[in-house]
Formats: sequence, structure tokens, C-alpha cells
Amino acid sequence: MTDILKLEHVSKSYDGSGKVLRDVSLHFQEGEFVVIIGPSGAGKSTLIRCINQLIRPTEGTVLFNGCDLTKLKGRALRRQQAEIGMVFQNYNLIGRTSVLKNVLFGRLGQMSALDSLFGRYSQEDIRQAMALLKKVGLEDQMFKRADTLSGGQQQRVGIARAILQRPRLLLADEPIASLDPNSAEVVMDTLQQLSRDLGIACIVNLHQVDFARRYASRIIGLQTGQIVFDGTPEALTDEITARIYKGREEQMKLNGAGTQENVYA
Ligand SMILES: Nc1ncnc2c1ncn2[C@@H]1O[C@H](COP(=O)(O)OP(=O)(O)OP(=O)(O)O)[C@@H](O)[C@H]1O
Ligand SMILES: [Mg+2]
Repeated sequence: MTDILKLEHVSKSYDGSGKVLRDVSLHFQEGEFVVIIGPSGAGKSTLIRCINQLIRPTEGTVLFNGCDLTKLKGRALRRQQAEIGMVFQNYNLIGRTSVLKNVLFGRLGQMSALDSLFGRYSQEDIRQAMALLKKVGLEDQMFKRADTLSGGQQQRVGIARAILQRPRLLLADEPIASLDPNSAEVVMDTLQQLSRDLGIACIVNLHQVDFARRYASRIIGLQTGQIVFDGTPEALTDEITARIYKGREEQMKLNGAGTQENVYA
């Protein structure tokens, strides 16, 4: 398997204050489904955003497609970012616009300025957007306003939009934090299925340890900006989980669709 993304000695401090990411080195392979867990403030969002350069790391390199993204700017950076899809906690849809158009927005980064200004999508893009909506179970919702959909449905629109971008890597920051356990399960199923079918590496931040165990091929535990666990779901024992969340046990949110009761309560 080829490494698609390599972080080497990445650190981040905001405004020169203390480091919120400390010497993080990680390699990711094609098609991996990685879940990052850790208490609030551990640096999960910072890590995700340092990957696609929404936040610039203070130190270290982020190698994607063989390029160090931390050295790129302008058009060269945007070209690489176009191959990194992003799924957000609050979906980031345009509510008054149709579901189909929201998905098509995924193509904007790769279109000419004029085509994107006038929304001139190719027939192929429209065909693919429709096929993706079918795949995520929303073919009946295509022409509805996005804000008339449920949270779980809106998140699936967000995922379809990110996939239409044809990414090699998909980042998701707390994609199920605003959803009830049933909708969360459908959204995680959708992410996992698409990642598998299309061979796209996925890096997902989650608070729900039970969901992490259930869906991840690999789990990374982050604590005060440092990697404290990196392994398979099977290797993440209850003791290690308790250590990662020490003093913050209430944040593990073991109330989702997991197979076990909250053993830490
Ligand atoms: N823009 C910013 N400016 C200054 N400090 C920040 C900024 N963004 C985050 N931080 C700080 O960096 C640390 C890590 O924050 P981050 O949002 O990455 O954590 P997180 O693990 O995603 O937490 P949560 O689970 O609550 O989303 C926190 O101490 C936070 O206060
Ligand atoms: Mg966060």
C-alpha cells in the first residue's frame, strides 16, 4: 500500500502561545479509515486543519501527493487542496439551494473561473452528482431545498459534495456530533462505504469512542497535542481509552450505537 499522506514533526502554536500540537508524525495509506479520538482541546480539529492547510503548522512538513503542502500557496496549494475533501460538523450547505446544486458545488474548485461563476456544470458532473445522491439514499430529495432535509440527510449531502470533488483524501471534523445515534450510524455507514468503494483515505474526528471502535480500521488517540495511541480498534483497550480521557470521562459519549454499555460510568 502506498502512503498518501505523511506528517513529519508537525507542531502548532496559535499566536506564539503554548503548542497545541507537539511533534506529530503520522503516515496514512490509501483507503485507510482512521478515526482520531481525544478529549476536548486535545488538538483534533487543529490536526485535521493542519493537514489541508486551513491552519498553517508552525513547524514540520505535510507531504501529500509528494508535495510539501506547508511550502505551497496560491494556485499550487489550491490544486492540491482540491484533492482533499472536507466534511463539517454543521454540514456547511447553502440552505436555500437545492440538494443537487449543493452537491455540484463540490466541482467548483476544479472548474474555470467563468464556468464556476455561471454554474456551468458538465453533463458528466450532473450525472455523477445524481448517481452519488442515489448512492447515499437521497435520490428522492434531489430537487428539494437543502434546509428542508433532516440533519443526517444534510450530512449525507455534505459527503456527496466532498466525494464529487474526486478527492484522494477525505477529512471529517466531528461529522456526527449534531446527530441522534440512528442518523449518526447512517452517516458513518455512508462514509465507510464510499471510502471502501472508491479507495479514498478517510480521517475522521470523533468524540464517540464506540463509533470509533466500530468503524475505524485504525484509531489515533490524541492528548494535549500528542499522539498517545495509534493502532487497531482491537488494540484500544478500555484501560488505554480511560487513560486518554483521564479526568474527562464524561466526554467519551459512549451513548451511540455501540455494542456495549458505558463501562466507564
Ligand atoms: N484559533 C485559535 N486560536 C487560539 N487557540 C486556539 C484556536 N483554535 C484552537 N485553539 C486552542 O487549541 C487547542 C486545541 O483545540 P482544538 O479545537 O484543535 O481541539 P479539539 O480536540 O478539536 O477539541 P474539541 O473536541 O472541543 O473540538 C485548545 O486549547 C484550543 O483552545
Ligand atoms: Mg474539534
